[in-house]
Amino acid sequence: MRTRILGLGTSIPEQILTNADLERIVDTSDEWIRSRTGIEERRRIEDGRDCSDLVAEACVNALADAAVKPEEIDALITATATADTLFPSTAAWAQPKIGLRRIPVFDISSACSGFLYANIVAEGLVATGSARRVLICGSEVLSRLTNWRDRGTCVLFGDGAGAAVIGRSENDDRGLLGSTWGADGSLAELLWLPAGGTRFPATHETVEHRKHTIHMCGNEVFKHAVKAMERAVGEVLDRTGVRGEDVDLFVPHQANVRIIKKTAERAGIPMEKVYLTIHKYGNTSAASIPMALKDAEESGRLREGNLVLCAAFGSGFTWAAALYRW
Ligand code: UT7
Repeated sequence: MRTRILGLGTSIPEQILTNADLERIVDTSDEWIRSRTGIEERRRIEDGRDCSDLVAEACVNALADAAVKPEEIDALITATATADTLFPSTAAWAQPKIGLRRIPVFDISSACSGFLYANIVAEGLVATGSARRVLICGSEVLSRLTNWRDRGTCVLFGDGAGAAVIGRSENDDRGLLGSTWGADGSLAELLWLPAGGTRFPATHETVEHRKHTIHMCGNEVFKHAVKAMERAVGEVLDRTGVRGEDVDLFVPHQANVRIIKKTAERAGIPMEKVYLTIHKYGNTSAASIPMALKDAEESGRLREGNLVLCAAFGSGFTWAAALYRW
């Protein structure tokens, strides 16, 4: 039994923050940001909207794309590092906004690997018969947890969401052909948000020292990311017996164009087969892969029958890869 993505949808905030805008906020330059990351602009959520609003919009669009009704969904999984609240889950806030039945809804906290983690969990639910159709959504409001005084992080992140309806594939050739996932918690402090949880609840000091914002050791993350992406891609290609050169489209997590280039090169995938959205959306963490998949579909680069590879890494330290016959 195989599962496949029955439909995709996104929620992309309208407000654009360019590199020139950031030059006015921190000591940086358009040239540095473009050459070191590949980012030209990113989106920022409107005041008054939350992560769960992006989830709801992306999910409604994915349902329409799949021609599936909200009442036909048996579970909702939201992948996010920027939840509306510590509890309940962002999925719980989003559920009534989408008009879903009283089905199980929950979040996955595995940062940028979250969408692929959610897809692997959804595959399990469908394969075991626990659910017929599962809505999964990667959604991030990173702009609200960014330290706008830290040039090492504030230039990187953007807001947005991407959702998919996962269901049974009508034939064995089409759908999720194989996947791999993993984590190494000993690297957790390379990229984290220290305060606001139960270890460091909010105090004047945590606020004063900006402990409620993203903390990252960029170049260490970079090194581990390249290794994790290479390993995950190698594993999924081995498991499915596919060679890098046979992949039609590589849709990686969009964190840094230099990480993407190194991963593609090591997997034997030419850059013409790599799909990039980082220039216009920056790093949207768990949302980046589904947003890029939808973008690729809309631009005509992603077509039925294509062999599509996705790979991600993120805080945790987590990683995952998946190969689909579209
Ligand atoms: O989804 C997972 C999330 N995280 C990532 O994927 C991040 C992975 N890491 C990266 O993408 C890169 O490490 C960064 C883009 C974050 C940084 O690039 P780098 O080439 O690793 O730079 P660096 O941190 O080694 O810093 C080099 C220099 C430093 O200056 P000095 O000490 O050499 O004078 C930084 O202070 O670049 C400086 N720098 C900047 N300069 C201008 C750091 N950020 C900026 C900036 N503008 N925005």
